[in-house]
Amino acid sequence: MTFGARRGLRRVMEHKNPPSGPPASTSSASPAPTSTSASGLDSRRAALDLLARIRRGFLLDEALSACISFDELEGPDRSFAYALTVTVLRRRGTIDHLLGAYIDRPLPKKLARVMDILRLAAAQTLFLGTPDHAAVSTAVTLAGDRKEIAGYAKLINAVARKVAKAGTAALEKVPARADTPAWMWRSWERNYGPQGTRAIAEAHRQEPPLDLTLKNPADATLWADRLQAETLPTGSLRLRNISDVKKLDGFGDGVWWVQDTAASLPTRLLGDVSGKKVFDLCAAPGGKTLQLAAAGAEVISVDISDPRLQRVRENLGRTGLTAAIVTEDVLRWSPDEKADAILLDAPCSATGTIRRHPDIPWVKHETDIAALTSLQARMIDHALSLLKPGGTLIYCVCSLQAAEGEKQAQAALKRHDKLTRKAVTADEISGFGEAINRHGDLRTLPSMLAEKGGMDGFYAARFILAA
Ligand SMILES: C[S@@+](CC[C@H](N)C(=O)[O-])C[C@H]1O[C@@H](n2cnc3c(N)ncnc32)[C@H](O)[C@@H]1O
Repeated sequence: MTFGARRGLRRVMEHKNPPSGPPASTSSASPAPTSTSASGLDSRRAALDLLARIRRGFLLDEALSACISFDELEGPDRSFAYALTVTVLRRRGTIDHLLGAYIDRPLPKKLARVMDILRLAAAQTLFLGTPDHAAVSTAVTLAGDRKEIAGYAKLINAVARKVAKAGTAALEKVPARADTPAWMWRSWERNYGPQGTRAIAEAHRQEPPLDLTLKNPADATLWADRLQAETLPTGSLRLRNISDVKKLDGFGDGVWWVQDTAASLPTRLLGDVSGKKVFDLCAAPGGKTLQLAAAGAEVISVDISDPRLQRVRENLGRTGLTAAIVTEDVLRWSPDEKADAILLDAPCSATGTIRRHPDIPWVKHETDIAALTSLQARMIDHALSLLKPGGTLIYCVCSLQAAEGEKQAQAALKRHDKLTRKAVTADEISGFGEAINRHGDLRTLPSMLAEKGGMDGFYAARFILAA
């Protein structure tokens, strides 16, 4: 078993993260993440607050933006709080499995904070390299913070000690599916088989690397050299253990932007867009807008969220690229002119981005999928009404769910008899044929490029609207 969190945790300033997030810094397991306060209690308290918000259904990004105790932290304390939180989220199933051996029966809901304190202690001793005594004694102190759980300090002390004593050897006995909700596992098994699903779950346990897309792809060798980056088969540059993205060479000059390599592929399916009118629907925070603008398209970027579009504006400013920005519900948007091509990166369950957003397994539910697929279908239908005859529509989602990807594309073809699928060819994606499914659609998985650090799960289908 590999223990991804041990390799060090990094909060990269990737495009989905809120500006109020923690510093893009590393708080690594080796040596143990540290904090400037002698006890590190403030970091642990902030992590507890973040976990409590996520338990109430907030996404991690939302929790980070709204959490005062986290916002008040700086430097290593902030990084440590972030590292604690994402480690608990990434390995929550594993941690709960191990805690379960020492707790007779599940704790009632009102003791959720007790459970979170135990999770934090276990994350430290099992994955973050914190000395056992520090993890256990701070857990006991945290129990004392709240009158209603102070009586559980003894239990916390006993269980945290036992987990620490059993150590990482106990991880070998944890089932592969522990960190994946049952409904997700079942749905992936149907689509990717038992082995494929295990590989995906294993990939989710690893900390993701940092991928960059170059404004000028022809400069890949030059910038790989300058940044000491690896050039991926897909053309992206890959870096690890970056402490601050903004300090990297080329950031200020807008030579590149952060974008998972999988997310960089759908745009390429539009081919040569130079001089073409392209609508980027659901565009924020703008990775695909930047690609289209860099390739010379006349881009109109539409998104319902103005705060998220602000990120597009900032990214355009930094890179010196141009796109028109429209804040509007895609379903209500009706421009005067139709597009030569449309990229629709629809809202989805985002199960393809669990490596970067380990909160997703705990805040998304099977019941969310039906509403999303219905919205996606309406968006496809509306997008087609904005496309010139003969035009191309790329429909894509950062989801591993067939309902949002493969099945959605099949259903669109059934609804629209003027629509045909145009298969993706390997040479359009730098020869990365592994990512093309039997229908000719793009399907990337977190387990792909595993030896290089994986990639997000993405689905993209290319449609042509008959003239
Ligand atoms: C997967 S993200 C898009 C990522 C983006 N294409 C990129 O490459 O950076 C989905 C986006 O859909 C937007 N969205 C959700 N519902 C929408 C709607 N009804 N109309 C327009 N945008 C919507 C969200 O605000 C979000 O920014």
